Amino acid sequence: MPENTILSVRNIVKTYPGVIAINHFSMDVREGEVHALIGENGAGKSTLIKTLSGAITPDEGTVCVCGKEFASMTPKLAKEQGIEVIYQEFTLVPGISAAENVFLGEKTKPGLFVDIKEREKRARELFERLNVDIDVSKPVKNLSPAHQQLVEIAKAVSKQVKILIMDEPTAPLTVSEVETLFRIIKDLKSQGVTVIYISHRLEELFEIADRVTVMRDGC
Ligand SMILES: Nc1ncnc2c1ncn2[C@@H]1O[C@H](COP(=O)(O)OP(=O)(O)OP(=O)(O)O)[C@@H](O)[C@H]1O
Ligand SMILES: [Mg+2]
Repeated sequence: MPENTILSVRNIVKTYPGVIAINHFSMDVREGEVHALIGENGAGKSTLIKTLSGAITPDEGTVCVCGKEFASMTPKLAKEQGIEVIYQEFTLVPGISAAENVFLGEKTKPGLFVDIKEREKRARELFERLNVDIDVSKPVKNLSPAHQQLVEIAKAVSKQVKILIMDEPTAPLTVSEVETLFRIIKDLKSQGVTVIYISHRLEELFEIADRVTVMRDGC
């Protein structure tokens, strides 16, 4: 295992009744790289990242993050290790603002009005870091899918993300939005963030990925 391995997945198995979703799968991810995970529909990509985020528990195998070994992740453990996932299905709360979504789950301070203004200011700073212009006070349901995705990214970045996992991030995007996303991924990489990028569009990989893992039938 190379010294700069930030994440090492070893012999993960996950079965559902009648299906082996992941079948003794192993992979190493190096610190600061963009690592693409590709494979056909049903190959096991989403199931694998759910084991990394703690959303599901594998039947067998281990996950090693920054040298610490875990038999299974929990959502809390994964967050403590700096793992953030942007799922295929967005998980934002549609009726509240972008700023509130970014800091959802943070404890509120007394004086709600001040608090909202303060969150909007911090959210604006995050979007400035991503170099995108978004009205942070708008409910996210009024934002385009691309802007909603940027809210998800800002949310991950606000949590000091070390390993950002994106599941098919380009699926809802137009060509120019994909360019913006790629620019942001490259910026995050230059800031030391490791990215695991799931896709089944081969042509994207040549532009964005440093290394590629191919998944087939859970292997
Ligand atoms: N909760 C579940 N219950 C039963 N079977 C499941 C469950 N989740 C996934 N599977 C099965 O596990 C296999 C892997 O699914 P998974 O969603 O991980 O594939 P994927 O590579 O993400 O596919 P896609 O490219 O379509 O997103 C598939 O056969 C799927 O039907
Ligand atoms: Mg999937």
